[in-house]
Amino acid sequence: MGFRHLISCFEKRRIIVRVFAYSVRKDEEEFFLHYGKELGMEIAMTSETPGLDNVDLAKGFDTINVITTLFSDELVDAFANIGVRFIETRTVGFDHLPLDAIRRNKMGAGHVTYSTDSVADYAIMLMMMSLRKIKTAVKRADAQDFTLMGLRGRGLKGLTVGVVGTGNIGKAVIRRLQGFESRILAYDLYPSKSIDTMATYVPLQTLIAESDVITLHLPGIDGGHLIGAKEFQNMKPTSILINTARASLVDYEALIKALEEKQIAGAAVDVVPDESSIFYFDHRFDVIDNRIYSHLKSMPNAIVLPHLAFYTDHAVEDMVKNSLLSIQNFYSNNENPWKIL
Ligand code: COI
Repeated sequence: MGFRHLISCFEKRRIIVRVFAYSVRKDEEEFFLHYGKELGMEIAMTSETPGLDNVDLAKGFDTINVITTLFSDELVDAFANIGVRFIETRTVGFDHLPLDAIRRNKMGAGHVTYSTDSVADYAIMLMMMSLRKIKTAVKRADAQDFTLMGLRGRGLKGLTVGVVGTGNIGKAVIRRLQGFESRILAYDLYPSKSIDTMATYVPLQTLIAESDVITLHLPGIDGGHLIGAKEFQNMKPTSILINTARASLVDYEALIKALEEKQIAGAAVDVVPDESSIFYFDHRFDVIDNRIYSHLKSMPNAIVLPHLAFYTDHAVEDMVKNSLLSIQNFYSNNENPWKIL
């Protein structure tokens, strides 16, 4: 067998991984092209979100790469039917993927991790914005109302901050809070020794009753909420709730009631129920079809932002890069730290 023939045999045996990426923003394209080339993958992409009407775009590709679009079982079946074997979400959370349907179709699934700094910094920013009433301050300053009345705020020093969830992001929040000299309470089903000197683990109900600021750093949950009417009733009337995690953790109707009835002093949320049909789209000329979002937005003591906590230079690059590495691990049978299934 000649040398040339040998090389072409090897080339034929080399698996070319074909990835079709959905919901790709302009600022992600360069990273898909760069890391796709570096990893020898064939990459195609669209800005469209995945749906039954555009499954065919991924025909001929082994893998799809997605973000937070809510997948139905039917959509997973449709991708399986055209030969997709792996679903990779370039997000930390994967509560938008129906794992039973993916398993039933004998497909694999992966997610990513990225710098915890983006979300941790943002959570601290929201605490300070709420405590210093920045939403109202900016509106008043914009209207050239430079009076002070009603804008007196509170500092983080000496306040009790309750961190619910002490995974990587929760820990990064706790490390930052050290610098503010806050008292830190923590809750997690699986306490971590590494924060013992910085925070005190307490039962959730104690954290809820004693904290001035409650910040959530847990994955989304199915059925029921972690924070509902009972929890709001037990919070201090001066407390604020920060949610940069997932909307499913909180009963948002109960949150609105708690704000209306002054059971709590404020809230800052980066996530709302059914956000995937509004966030990341231009709805300037539309009536927003999400009453929870609209109601919260109308309140002076509630900050509502469109799921931006992750959105930094560092994290955007990590999300694309790690999603492609996760795919590569799957096809090369390597240990995959981002494996879901
Ligand atoms: C995640 O990575 O889980 C996020 O929440 C960010 C995503 C909305 C892009």
